[in-house]
Amino acid sequence: MLLALLLPLLLPLPDPPSADGHPPYVRLPPSTLQVLSAQGTQALQVAQRSAQWAVKRVAMEIQYRLHECRGCANHTTPCPAGPRRPGPPTPLLQDSPEPGPCGERPPGTANATRAHGRIVGGRAAPPGAWPWLVRLHLGGQPLCGGVLVAASWVLTAAHCFAGARNELLWTVTLAEGPRGEQAEEVPVNRILPHPKFDPRTFHYDLALVQLWTPVSAAGPARPVCLPQGPREPSAGTACAIAGWGALFEDGPEAEAVREARVPLLSADTCQRALGPALRPSTMLCAGYLAGGIDSCQGDSGGPLTCSEPGPRPREVLYGVTSWGDGCGEPGKPGVYTRVAVFRDWLQEQMSAARSNREPSCRELLARDPPEEPLAAAAAPCAFYAGQCPGSEGACARLAHQQCLQRRRRCELGALTHTLLVLLRGAQELLGPRPSLPRLASARPSASLRESPGRPARDQPPGSRAAGARFQRPRPKQRGEANGCPGLDPLLRKLAILQNTHAWILRVPPDRLAMDFQEVLADLGSKTLNGLFGAQVQAGLGGRHVVFGGLVGLEPATLAHSLPRLLAQALQAFRLAAQQRKSPRDP
Ligand code: ARG
Repeated sequence: MLLALLLPLLLPLPDPPSADGHPPYVRLPPSTLQVLSAQGTQALQVAQRSAQWAVKRVAMEIQYRLHECRGCANHTTPCPAGPRRPGPPTPLLQDSPEPGPCGERPPGTANATRAHGRIVGGRAAPPGAWPWLVRLHLGGQPLCGGVLVAASWVLTAAHCFAGARNELLWTVTLAEGPRGEQAEEVPVNRILPHPKFDPRTFHYDLALVQLWTPVSAAGPARPVCLPQGPREPSAGTACAIAGWGALFEDGPEAEAVREARVPLLSADTCQRALGPALRPSTMLCAGYLAGGIDSCQGDSGGPLTCSEPGPRPREVLYGVTSWGDGCGEPGKPGVYTRVAVFRDWLQEQMSAARSNREPSCRELLARDPPEEPLAAAAAPCAFYAGQCPGSEGACARLAHQQCLQRRRRCELGALTHTLLVLLRGAQELLGPRPSLPRLASARPSASLRESPGRPARDQPPGSRAAGARFQRPRPKQRGEANGCPGLDPLLRKLAILQNTHAWILRVPPDRLAMDFQEVLADLGSKTLNGLFGAQVQAGLGGRHVVFGGLVGLEPATLAHSLPRLLAQALQAFRLAAQQRKSPRDP
């Protein structure tokens, strides 16, 4: 669209006529070169983000592999039998919330939260103040908050997964420590949205997320306490909310965790303020009718905790941030999913035996496909084989087929994601910043609401590169490869990935700009499609390439030819970088 508007300005300038009165060449004007450069830079950014994300995924697999091997060497976990991709350590699936410590905040962080100021979200929280607060990332982009409720379980809002249910796409960042210790990133093993979640009304807006590895007791992350009975604190109790959400409606996402105190409001008050969209059976509301202090977009899934007094005060989770009508608007308190009414569902899900549950895609893809039904009886296909009387015969073969089929669907899911990333790249390449598909709506689109309301931002700005926090695995890990089965193929995979993407990974972000310097079209070379042969000169990070392409010189043909020139430029830079690396290669 942008191109269409700009086209009249972008048409080429002929060079001075030659002796026979016809200009032999025309140059695309600087305005066109600028548009091309801007689009090229966007394409480069997308390409760099996808490359970082691909490398990061393998790096994470390596980290888990090493984690497993170290545990095995210390005799804390059984040693893996052979070369396998990493699987979940044994205690993963048996950790229901134990009566152990929960809800305790590090000393010095607890009484910092005071309601003040007129900023949505209150104030910046001291580091480590909320040890159960986690962040959910989709394809590397932070999207929602979440609350650690057990070593392997995070509670969050079901609407965070609207349109993105595939666990392979999600990771969770745990809380950082009180001294700013770096937050750990863990892949998601399973997503369990409440089966009654209704995306239109946000009724039952709750989901459990199982982590691929349980949080370590040595780190700063700690679970919050879940309510022990159906009772909730009375209206007027000041409770705490926390998250990285927007600082005001449609505003920027917070750089660090913010926190605020908000009083619980009675069901009557909530209903009067928010109308029939508020379903008191599963929703509670909290905040100030005067407005000003509230959760906001990006805070979804995060905690609303109330302090339980005692010799050692504990924070108990009574709400999960769900929706609001705007943020911090007068008369419109924030809405939270009630946790106390879901105690039974939570218990049931977290204590379910592995054999009673279909394996997750991550579990299936973590192992090589079982070759025959007998092997299918072993995890993770045991779920299917378990339905059969014996390990041989038609039933066992069918179970095996079923398991393989699901595995294939999982592989397809992973592939679809990769394609989507590429497609997004292509979209950005073809036009001015398209708005990315909305993944979760910020409030129920209940037809019950009288006014349609303003649209709310529900995706944090895509400005943060997916791999910004990526750290290369330390070189000494190579030396450990021998002692750790399955590590070598992963290291090889990483090396190959780094090699194929090296051309874009090496460009420092501040130099990631494409600069089209000249497009010179040869007027004597018109093709049947009305395009002209052109010589293109472009720069990237101080390097230059020259290549031949085709360009249109009328509005329609010009618009069509530009995306192709961009793609060619990307290709030329990639080839140039590879040739520099191996000058003798053909
Ligand atoms: N639905 C939002 C999210 O996805 C949370 C909105 C909370 N709004 C509020 N006014 N309390 O992040």
